[in-house]
Amino acid sequence: MAPAALRDDRIRSVIDRLRLEAAGDAARMRIARPAAEARVLDPEARAEERVEIFMAIAPATGSLCYQLIRARRPALVVEFGTSYGVSTVYLGAAVRDNGLGRVVTTELSRAKAAAAADNLADAGLEAQVQVLCGDARETLTEIRTPVGFLFLDGWKELYLPVLRILEPWLEDGALIVADDTSFEVLGDYLSYVRDPRNGYESTPLAMDDGIELTCRTVT
Ligand SMILES: C[S@@+](CC[C@H](N)C(=O)[O-])C[C@H]1O[C@@H](n2cnc3c(N)ncnc32)[C@H](O)[C@@H]1O
Repeated sequence: MAPAALRDDRIRSVIDRLRLEAAGDAARMRIARPAAEARVLDPEARAEERVEIFMAIAPATGSLCYQLIRARRPALVVEFGTSYGVSTVYLGAAVRDNGLGRVVTTELSRAKAAAAADNLADAGLEAQVQVLCGDARETLTEIRTPVGFLFLDGWKELYLPVLRILEPWLEDGALIVADDTSFEVLGDYLSYVRDPRNGYESTPLAMDDGIELTCRTVT
């Protein structure tokens, strides 16, 4: 029996290396503009200002996404907010272990998108993952096939617009994981997915900075 991809030496060593590099975020964050203030910048300028900051998901969030993708076996996984690809490695590993499907991830910063593509290649996941460079509100309009799993981790005020762009393509039973839901700016997103009239069933999970797990219940 082959080891689950997350225990594969190549994938493990990329995750370990990226986590070591991301550990420098605490110092980088101290000299960066606070998130609330940075919101005055347009999304692209903010991405350039934060180009050296990983803002990577917690290991438990990666594991949760891996488990949900293994269970749901989606043909298409979409990620909003790649950064250096820490979360994307978990998504790609799950797709690889399923033996079906692919991941499309999108990142605004050209430098980060290029580095993420290199990291995914180092992990041996280049066949499973396509990295799109550009604003998700444009790049994700290219999606024209059903989406079974969506991971939201870009700039927080864009979760709802990105969800609405992909909504026509969400399969019945599609899962959506939104990260950092304790941020006040996510109020509109949470109100939307928690209102059953919009066709979702949604549950807050007390993990890291808050996770919202949402299921598309109508198509
Ligand atoms: C929190 S980080 C993502 C961390 C990543 N998911 C991980 O776990 O390693 C958010 C990223 O989203 C990117 N981003 C923000 N707004 C975006 C947009 N409109 N389109 C594409 N990427 C965007 C930022 O440049 C930043 O790198």
